[in-house]
Amino acid sequence: MKKYQSYIDKLTIHLSKSDESRFVAQQLLRMHRETSLKDNPLIVELGVDRGQSTKIFINSIDEKKNAKLISVDIKDCKDAVNDENWEFVQQDSADIQKLLSNKPQIKKGIDILYIDSLHTATHVKKEFYNFYEYLNKNAYIFFDDIDSNPYMANQRKDSINTEIANREILKLLEAIFRANMDKIDFEIMRGSTGLGIFKKLNNLGEKLNPPNYIEERNNLIINKIFQKIFLKKSYQHDNKSDKSFIIKPNKIKK
Ligand SMILES: C[S@@+](CC[C@H](N)C(=O)[O-])C[C@H]1O[C@@H](n2cnc3c(N)ncnc32)[C@H](O)[C@@H]1O
Repeated sequence: MKKYQSYIDKLTIHLSKSDESRFVAQQLLRMHRETSLKDNPLIVELGVDRGQSTKIFINSIDEKKNAKLISVDIKDCKDAVNDENWEFVQQDSADIQKLLSNKPQIKKGIDILYIDSLHTATHVKKEFYNFYEYLNKNAYIFFDDIDSNPYMANQRKDSINTEIANREILKLLEAIFRANMDKIDFEIMRGSTGLGIFKKLNNLGEKLNPPNYIEERNNLIINKIFQKIFLKKSYQHDNKSDKSFIIKPNKIKK
C-alpha cells in the first residue's frame, strides 16, 4: 500500500458528503491527481505546518523512483512526514536565491508548485514571480486560501483579516492572469477556502508580465455620466451577424 493511502481513501469518502468537507477533499484530491499524472515530478511546496498537503504529495509520488518533494517552511517542520522522496528546508519561502543554492536541482524545472505559506498578496506575488521561471512547461501552480466567502461576516470562519487578505490574493491572481493570458490557464475551485490553479503554458526560463490591475466600476450612475461626457461606447452583443464571436459559429461545418 502507498504511504498515507488511508488519508487519500478518507478524502475520497468525503467527496460524496453534502457538507464543506466535500470541497476540502475536492481541492486536495485535485492536487493529488495532477501530481500523480506526472511521470517523475519535482514538487515544491511552500508552507508545511502539520503536513496535510505534504502527505498528499508523498502519496502521489510513492513508487516513482526519480520524483521528489521539496517542502519549505519558516518554522521547523522536519517531522511533518518521514519519507525518502522528501526534503525539508527551513527558510523564508520567497527567498528563491537561498533555496536555489541549497537545492540547485530546482533549476532543472519544477512540475508542481504549491503556494500555501504566508497568506498575503505581497508574499504570494513574491513567491509566484520568483519561482515562475523555474517551472517547466505544463507545470501546475496551486494557490491555497484565495476565497473570502467563508471568512465573511457571520460565515463559518468569520474573520475580517482573512476576508480582506484573501480578496487581495484573488485580485492579484486575476491581475496576473489578465496580463499573461497567453502564458497561463486559470481555474478556481470554490466551496471551501478556495484553490487557485494556474497551468504554465510557456517554457522553463520564461518569465511573466507584471500584474495588470484594472479599477472596478461600482457606481453605475456616475460611470454612465462619465461615458456620456467622453462619448465612450459600451460593448453591444451583435446577434444578427458573426461579429461578436471569437470563433465564428457560422463558419463551422456540420
Ligand atoms: C497554512 S500553513 C501550511 C499548511 C500545509 N500546506 C498543510 O496543508 O497542512 C502555513 C505555513 O506557512 C508557514 N509560513 C508563514 N510564513 C512563511 C514564510 N515567510 N516562509 C515560509 N513559510 C512561512 C507557517 O509557518 C505555516 O506552517
